[in-house]
Amino acid sequence: MAPLQGFTEAEFRRAWSRHFSGIHQMMSPFIALAEGSRFRQQHLRDVLPEANAGLSVIPQVLGNDASKFVLLAHRLQELGYATVNWNLGCPKPSVARKKRGSGLLPFPDLLRQLLDEIIPALPIKLSIKTRLGYHNPDEFFDLVEVYNDYPLQSLVIHPRIGVQMYEGEMYLETLDAAIGKLKHDWIFSGDITCRESFLALRKRYPTATGWMLGRGLLANPFLAEQISLPATPPPSETHREILIEFYYDLMQELMDKGRSSLAQLGKKKDYWWYFARWFTDADQIFHRLSHLNDPHAFDAEASRILTQQPLAPFASRKVRS
Ligand SMILES: Cc1cc2nc3c(=O)[nH]c(=O)nc-3n(C[C@H](O)[C@H](O)[C@H](O)COP(=O)(O)O)c2cc1C
Repeated sequence: MAPLQGFTEAEFRRAWSRHFSGIHQMMSPFIALAEGSRFRQQHLRDVLPEANAGLSVIPQVLGNDASKFVLLAHRLQELGYATVNWNLGCPKPSVARKKRGSGLLPFPDLLRQLLDEIIPALPIKLSIKTRLGYHNPDEFFDLVEVYNDYPLQSLVIHPRIGVQMYEGEMYLETLDAAIGKLKHDWIFSGDITCRESFLALRKRYPTATGWMLGRGLLANPFLAEQISLPATPPPSETHREILIEFYYDLMQELMDKGRSSLAQLGKKKDYWWYFARWFTDADQIFHRLSHLNDPHAFDAEASRILTQQPLAPFASRKVRS
């Protein structure tokens, strides 16, 4: 399961895993290294063992301060984690401007300097989640050389560049040209929305050792299971029942977080951007829901959609961020 900040936090991971299967490991959305000298306990809440009972999770960290990174890794080790993932993919301009996330990718020398400081001091293994570059996918050729010089547990590759955010074509030709040079185990992340798109990517990248599902899993929570079936089934009323149970389970989890009802409504709308894709006429459904500002009216409309709207064929569920 890909880390999707605002979506795949512990509440979602727990609710999802009570109703669906096929995911072997989950990566937490990033924990940002604090501006001050201490990281706050609140930042760790999402990866506390009690919030992730029975789940296999790799915590992810965002930042570019080596000593804080190591300090946090020690805390993660105390919590029982054996691997930490470093986010070198986040494209947000406010993050990238500070040479964090994908904003670090155009500076391979700085990346080396940070890895030289971090790796010898790290008490647990390091994996990295990267894009091909920030401005240009050809940045990846230099980055592969850097990654090859360090002991990494694995590299997760989202083959876009920072300035694309989550849109536009992936640079698969660049990945084709560079991937043979990579010495590490690597995991593909990007645009897997159905069994067919997974099979095409698996054929193109036989050296990938893992496959990460993100937005596609929100648009079809059965995706991980369906990938290993001989064919994608048509959506049925049994699927609908499971989706409804999952939806209300997730809503309960989100309610337990103690948000105001307005914040709660905002959160539901965020999820419905993707959940609308469970159904036919997804764009109209989302449009209608997004204009409902009374929590009761929203819940009534959501319930009507969940029980009555025809399910969309699984292979047709395109996702946008
Ligand atoms: C809303 C959103 C939040 C994301 N948050 C994170 C994050 O916290 N850490 C990270 O490494 N990637 C994050 N990503 C990137 C995803 O993990 C993934 O690499 C990307 O969406 C491509 O895969 P997909 O097409 O399967 O979603 C995020 C993507 C989206 C759309």
